[in-house]
Amino acid sequence: MLQGTGFLVRGWQLGDEVSLQKNANNLNVSAFLTDRFPSPYTPEAARIWVESLLKQEPLVNFAIVINKAVVGGIGIEFREDVYRKTGLLGYWLAEELWGKGIMTEAVKLVTEYVFQNLDLIRLQAGVLSKNPSSMRVLEKAGYVKEGILRRSVIKRGEILDEHVYAILK
Ligand SMILES: CC(C)(COP(=O)(O)OP(=O)(O)OC[C@H]1O[C@@H](n2cnc3c(N)ncnc32)[C@H](O)[C@@H]1OP(=O)(O)O)[C@@H](O)C(=O)NCCC(=O)NCCS
Repeated sequence: MLQGTGFLVRGWQLGDEVSLQKNANNLNVSAFLTDRFPSPYTPEAARIWVESLLKQEPLVNFAIVINKAVVGGIGIEFREDVYRKTGLLGYWLAEELWGKGIMTEAVKLVTEYVFQNLDLIRLQAGVLSKNPSSMRVLEKAGYVKEGILRRSVIKRGEILDEHVYAILK
C-alpha cells in the first residue's frame, strides 16, 4: 500500500466494484484511454476487472482510494521479448477530482515503487494528442517526452497522435 496526501494507492479488493463502476463509467474519463477500458463501464465489467486482480503477483495494478471508495486506477503492464525491461504506465481518475494534483502524486509513488520492487529499468506512457493534462502529469512526475507517433491512434473515429513519455531508473 502506498500513502498519498489524502488518498491511498492499494491493490484491488472485493467490494471495489461499486465505486469503480460509478467513477469509471464516464465518457470524459474514457475519452483518451485505449478501448480496453470499457465504455460504458458496466457492473459486469467492474466485477471482471476486480476479480481478475485479486491475486496479482507481482502487484502492479492499483486502486486509488479515498474514504474506502475507488476514485481511480493506476498500473503497469509488462512489455515482452526484447522490451521486457520496460513497463507501460496507465491511469485514470474520477472527473470530480481532476486538477488537485492527485494523479501527479500517484504517478510519482507508483514509479518509485516499480523501480524499487521490480526488475524494470524504464517506464513508458503513451498520451493521446488531445490530452494535455495527462502530458502535464507525466512532466511534473519527471517523465520526458521522447517522441510523437504521428497519426498512430484511432479513438472514437478520430485519428490522433500518440506522445510517448518515459522515465529511466
Ligand atoms: C489525466 C488525469 C489523470 C489527470 O489527473 P489529475 O489528478 O487531474 O492531474 P493533476 O491535478 O496532478 O495535474 C493536472 C495538470 O494538468 C493541467 N491541465 C489541466 N487541463 C489542462 C489543459 N487543457 N492544458 C494543459 N494543462 C492542463 C493542470 O493545470 C495541472 O497542471 P499544473 O499542476 O501545472 O497546474 C485525469 O484528468 C484523468 O483521469 N483523465 C481521464 C483519463 C486519462 O486521460 N488518463 C491518462 C491516459 S494517458
